[in-house]
Amino acid sequence: MTEPHFTGDKRAIEVKSVSKSFGAYQALKSVSFDIGSNEFFTMLGPSGCGKTTLLRMLAGFESPDAGSILLNGKEVVAIPPHKRRVNTVFQSYALFPHMTLEQNVAYGLENLGWEQGRIKTRVGEMLERVHMGPMARRKPAQLSGGQRQRIALARALAPEPEVLLLDEPLSALDLKLRQAMRDELRTLQRDTGITFVFVTHDQEEALDMSDRIAVLGGGEVQQIGTPAEIYEEPVNRFVADFVGETNFLDVEVLDTTGREATSARPLAFPSPCRQPAQR
Ligand SMILES: Nc1ncnc2c1ncn2[C@@H]1O[C@H](COP(=O)(O)OP(=O)(O)OP(=O)(O)O)[C@@H](O)[C@H]1O
Ligand SMILES: [Mg+2]
Repeated sequence: MTEPHFTGDKRAIEVKSVSKSFGAYQALKSVSFDIGSNEFFTMLGPSGCGKTTLLRMLAGFESPDAGSILLNGKEVVAIPPHKRRVNTVFQSYALFPHMTLEQNVAYGLENLGWEQGRIKTRVGEMLERVHMGPMARRKPAQLSGGQRQRIALARALAPEPEVLLLDEPLSALDLKLRQAMRDELRTLQRDTGITFVFVTHDQEEALDMSDRIAVLGGGEVQQIGTPAEIYEEPVNRFVADFVGETNFLDVEVLDTTGREATSARPLAFPSPCRQPAQR
């Protein structure tokens, strides 16, 4: 398993040897990684690999069977969701249909006991930030999917969380909108400086947006690294297969130096072929 190697100064999230089983099925097997403050961090992996389970643990909706989770250096396993400065955006927008957009964004702030004037200012700022100011009085049913997702983002960011969790937030959108929203999300993350933990099974999305990616497979972290590291130097066949547009070639290995192997010429490909050595 790859060791986590966040090298910045401040860790927003530390996941330490977290395991979780549902009945006899072990969904997560001693998963460890760190996420830096202000990082756009993505958990990438196929369906069923435990991405949502991990996010739910960061939010506090699920507890690990073993291991610990630290937010800003503090153990949070026993702390309920509403006492963590963490918010989630889901694939389905989960907006309140009977409320206007501004009421939807204001809702969480009212629950936190913010004073009315402060709420009004913050709601206005957030709607502007996601380019939805002119539609403030509409209801969710009068919006497109992309617009609803922008409101869901505004609502989640309004209370100034330290961490925003995003569980496949773009997967209900069509391809063109998905690409536009990637840029918007990235800009939003940079402008707010909030730590984003983004979950997807779409490798292109992950490579395009992230500072670092954790590739999950079989309930384990297979590799953690920058998009370039993950794409260009997959540590094993699982990562290469899942992330790259890889062609696997059966070759005879002639020599290995460090992590590189020199192989005999496979049919119809130039020689020598260089590829990461298998572990
Ligand atoms: N409450 C639960 N009870 C039983 N099994 C569960 C429960 N929650 C998750 N699982 C199982 O744990 C595994 C991981 O689920 P999880 O939802 O975390 O996957 P995922 O990576 O988010 O998948 P997807 O990409 O399809 O959303 C799956 O095999 C799932 O069936
Ligand atoms: Mg999921």
